[in-house]
Amino acid sequence: MTTAVTRSRSLPLFEKYGGIRMLRNVIMDFYDRVLDSDTLGPYFDDVDMTRLIDHQTKFFAMMMGGPVDFSDDRLARAHASMAITHAEFDEIAALLTETLTAAGLEPVDIVTILTSVERRRSVIVRR
Ligand code: HEM
Repeated sequence: MTTAVTRSRSLPLFEKYGGIRMLRNVIMDFYDRVLDSDTLGPYFDDVDMTRLIDHQTKFFAMMMGGPVDFSDDRLARAHASMAITHAEFDEIAALLTETLTAAGLEPVDIVTILTSVERRRSVIVRR
């Protein structure tokens, strides 16, 4: 017998947590936290945040099993000029964990998402 628990376990995280609308709200909260950071905030001074939130929402939809493609090449190009450090990457990952926890995601699903982000450290970090 298929219970609600097993059904939700088989759903991609993207659907399990309500798709693009929920994800956009999570990403908007995430960037509120990023922009509050003294070390990370300045990187976004001249960035079109509406466009970035749209792109970041698509990237996370992809990572959560949603119907989106987002290549590592594109990720590398977007960060190539920024000379991002491991410490800055770690701070982004910590703010992401805070945001996903505040959004009510299950700890096991947060680990899945952060593992996927960690796999892209060498694509983003330059020094
Ligand atoms: C921790 C892992 C990170 C992930 C998964 C990530 C992901 C992304 C994605 C998907 C975009 C949009 C790219 C596009 O428009 O095609 C982006 C843009 C950007 N990221 Fe990251 N990023 C990460 C870390 C960082 C860090 C550590 C910084 C700065 C300290 C940073 C600064 C930026 C900036 C400034 C942009 C906007 C580029 C622009 O539109 O001109 N990112 N990031």
